[in-house]
Amino acid sequence: MFFQPDSTTSSKSLNLKIRMSVDTTTEKLIEKIKNKSHQLDPTTQSNYTNFKVNNTQLTLNVSFDSKTISGSVKYDLTNKTGNNELTLDTKALIIKKVSVNDSEISFKLSNSHSIYGSSLHIPIPKDSSLKVEIEFETTDKCTAIQFIQGDTGPYVFSQCQAIHARSLFPCFDTPGVKSPYKFIGKSPAKVTMSGRPQPSTEQNTYHFNQPIPIPSYLVSITSGYLQKAPIGPRSDVYCEEPNLKKCQWEFEQDMENFLQIAESLVFDYEWERFDSLVLPSSFPYGGMEIPNMTQLTPTLICGDRTQVTVMAHELAHSWSGNLVTNCSWEHFWLNEGWTVYLERRIVGAIGAQEARNSGKSDEEAIKIGEQLRHFEIIGGWSALVDTCETFDSQFTKLVWDLDGKDPDDAFSRIPYEKGFFLLFQLENKLGGVKDFDPFIKYYFKKFRYQSLNTAQFIETLYEFYEPKGKKSILDNINWDKELFESGLPEKPVLDTTLADQVYSYGDKWVEFIKNNDNYDNIPFTQEDIKSFKGEQDMLFIEYLVEKFKSQKVSSELIQKFPSIYPKYANSQNGEILSPWNELLIINGNYKSNDKIVQDFSKWLGKTGRMKYARPGYKVLKNGISLKFAIEQFNKHKDFYHPICKSMIEKDLGLI
Ligand code: BES
Ligand code: ZN
Repeated sequence: MFFQPDSTTSSKSLNLKIRMSVDTTTEKLIEKIKNKSHQLDPTTQSNYTNFKVNNTQLTLNVSFDSKTISGSVKYDLTNKTGNNELTLDTKALIIKKVSVNDSEISFKLSNSHSIYGSSLHIPIPKDSSLKVEIEFETTDKCTAIQFIQGDTGPYVFSQCQAIHARSLFPCFDTPGVKSPYKFIGKSPAKVTMSGRPQPSTEQNTYHFNQPIPIPSYLVSITSGYLQKAPIGPRSDVYCEEPNLKKCQWEFEQDMENFLQIAESLVFDYEWERFDSLVLPSSFPYGGMEIPNMTQLTPTLICGDRTQVTVMAHELAHSWSGNLVTNCSWEHFWLNEGWTVYLERRIVGAIGAQEARNSGKSDEEAIKIGEQLRHFEIIGGWSALVDTCETFDSQFTKLVWDLDGKDPDDAFSRIPYEKGFFLLFQLENKLGGVKDFDPFIKYYFKKFRYQSLNTAQFIETLYEFYEPKGKKSILDNINWDKELFESGLPEKPVLDTTLADQVYSYGDKWVEFIKNNDNYDNIPFTQEDIKSFKGEQDMLFIEYLVEKFKSQKVSSELIQKFPSIYPKYANSQNGEILSPWNELLIINGNYKSNDKIVQDFSKWLGKTGRMKYARPGYKVLKNGISLKFAIEQFNKHKDFYHPICKSMIEKDLGLI
């Protein structure tokens, strides 16, 4: 069977167990799947398979003056194979000093690979137990951190996923290696890191403990003038003072409820506390599942709690991703597909809970919850269709080949949605939620604290369902297509109740436009949509955007839209603002100095969340001109995070 290069798996006992419970045809299938992807992570240059990391102590010193982080990392290692060299990943990092078992030694840094950086070569004795300490400092080419001016003082935050940790500290930069950590952060401003805070007596020094083994991409540091407020019995939200109350309001109603629902779906939350941190607006993602301190974009704080699902998503990562981890970024769907699956189960459960609270019977409540879940799934399917049509087809496969490639370039909705739809298909074929739920618990228990690949996932499905007489269901799945082919999977049957309300209203618009060219009497008002829930508003706008791609619509009519739907025109919610401006600017024949265009461009200049910023510049490019889009980008580019900046540069053909 297969060897999983993972520091925490006892592969012998695991393989033995597996061999006993699956038959030979299954074994062949698993072998085939296993051989279709790399055995080792191609995006690390480290020799990680030779070592087990028993403990890591990482000390980081923040200097706001030099905008650098210096520090030291101490590895307590087992040299499993008697190797005489330790090779670690670094990128744009200064290595100051290396000691092995307390003696300083000389080391070598290789030439830098443009994506993977320079490998650090450290000679070691062949002893089985080793202590390695490295002193280092970041440079201005570090892609993992951004220094900015916060609302109340200087601020720095890191973002290491997928392979940016190597530009913050020398490490085995692969999700296939995990270690427990002790973190020490030193800074004039408050520090948070990826663990549980510990008491400290030294000034400007913050201690954290992470007893659960975690991979390098979950290592994080933030420092700034942060305050906190409770949003649940085991949860605080952190941010700078001016937004604290608003952040608290946004999440306090749902936080503990999400936690309890997730616990009943999988098993008890193991990380003790679930705190989160709302970052400044240049944070490039919606959220990032840092253990004990989830990072969130401030665009979630929209005053209507419509974006709390992002919190549910990051919380779900506490099981999928943080306890059970993809062993390389080629299997990223195992992290994100599972997380979207759990997120949507949480959303469905909340829907059912609300229905129950408003007096509905249990049966009705479950149906309402499912309708809500299916509504979210419909949105996911359109995102999947859209991505399959427009994205580099090699990365529309579920399992990627990343040899020589940058995982940031492979990133799209695919691992999220194609991953989700594989799990949803399995849920449906294997007997629905009631028969899939026990598998969820089994899978997460089996792989917790470990990293796994896709073959191990499929093997576990067989291991679980074969004794239940369901082998033929699994055999009938075309695994080759599901896992290794580009493009869409089969479309599932979905409950369209909530989406139909939106489509039938959108279709009225389509009909009206087909049959009229006089727009003095427009038979639509904001009243029509007052029953729409947040997600339905977004779907409606996106539906019109899609329809108007093929159906010509007069710009004169489009320019009336803001007065027909002032609620959209005045919205401060990015989920509305983003498609709404696309609808107007692409179809409205606006000029670059029109207020709508100017306002949108200004908003882009203070919105670093890539989900909005990247399509935003495409709207300026397609609706106004490439020249205008580049001009606006040049005005704002210093504000963006290095990852976001380089992605927009690629989108606009600047690099
Ligand atoms: N882990 C991801 C963010 C990420 C992915 C960072 C890849 C770097 C590389 C996080 O959990 C995530 O998926 N965020 C989503 C939000 C979500 C609701 C789909 C995002 O940022 O849009
Ligand atoms: Zn995620």
